[in-house]
Amino acid sequence: MYQTILTSLNNRILTITINRPDKLNALNKTVISELSEAIDELISNKLIGAAIITGAGPKSFVAGADISEFAGLDGKAGEALALRGQAAVFSKIENCPKPVVAAINGFALGGGCELAMACHFRLAADTARFGQPEVNLGLVPGYGGTQRLTQLVGKGRAMEWMMTGGLIDAATALQSGLVNHVVPAADLMTKTTEIVSTILTKAPRAISEVIRLTNLAALGDPNGLAAEAQAFGALFDTADAKEGAAAFLEKRKPAFKGE
Ligand code: COA
Repeated sequence: MYQTILTSLNNRILTITINRPDKLNALNKTVISELSEAIDELISNKLIGAAIITGAGPKSFVAGADISEFAGLDGKAGEALALRGQAAVFSKIENCPKPVVAAINGFALGGGCELAMACHFRLAADTARFGQPEVNLGLVPGYGGTQRLTQLVGKGRAMEWMMTGGLIDAATALQSGLVNHVVPAADLMTKTTEIVSTILTKAPRAISEVIRLTNLAALGDPNGLAAEAQAFGALFDTADAKEGAAAFLEKRKPAFKGE
């Protein structure tokens, strides 16, 4: 039983809701460890095909790491906090072989923006606000912000946003490539579920390979093209690829089994 997150499973989609609305869903140690557990469950449970991460309440997705836990941290402890969080949650989400999509319902600041960016892609409510305000605290992002924001919006915008620590509105986030869609707040979960449901009709192993190979590109891996060719070939040996071609030729919908 979780204390700081809610989970629900519908049609193979696990919805994970960070649930500390009175603290704008800030990421304390318990949230980090419970998110880590929920992602492990997503990875290992065959009944789950994908996840949506969102925040409880109308105001906030996640307003950052819990600043009250910063008191008393020294350099070593700060670095350990960042490394632990990156391994337990952020990199685990990024490398998860099943799709993880952020539905950003309000403030996505600091660790909240970083959590959204660790997801495979993002949708936002028109009321969402983004930012990396760590410089206001004399800090830098610690959960991947300098790396993933630069990948998503480009160096110039990332530099400006991280140096000013200002708030970015949903329209600017859309225009900059930080989010893929902006919808009225009331439609956010419906639209996100619709896209994830479409993905769940595809061959799961192909989807996992899209995630892995696209992450190689984002890391500038020099072996990305070779890895792509290898995966392309390996998928021909799967039952799902045979089913996909057969279904096309027989003018019917494929029934993929993840094999
Ligand atoms: N860590 C801990 N608590 C947080 C928090 C965070 N990152 N963000 C918000 N909260 C808490 C507030 O302390 C407040 O708690 P309280 O009611 O016990 O005093 C509650 O959430 C509501 O926030 P509040 O600041 O009153 O709401 P607001 O609408 O006036 O302002 C924000 C909203 C998001 C602009 C403001 O909360 C904020 O700047 N938060 C910090 C963002 C940040 O710097 N994140 C990066 C951390 S590295």
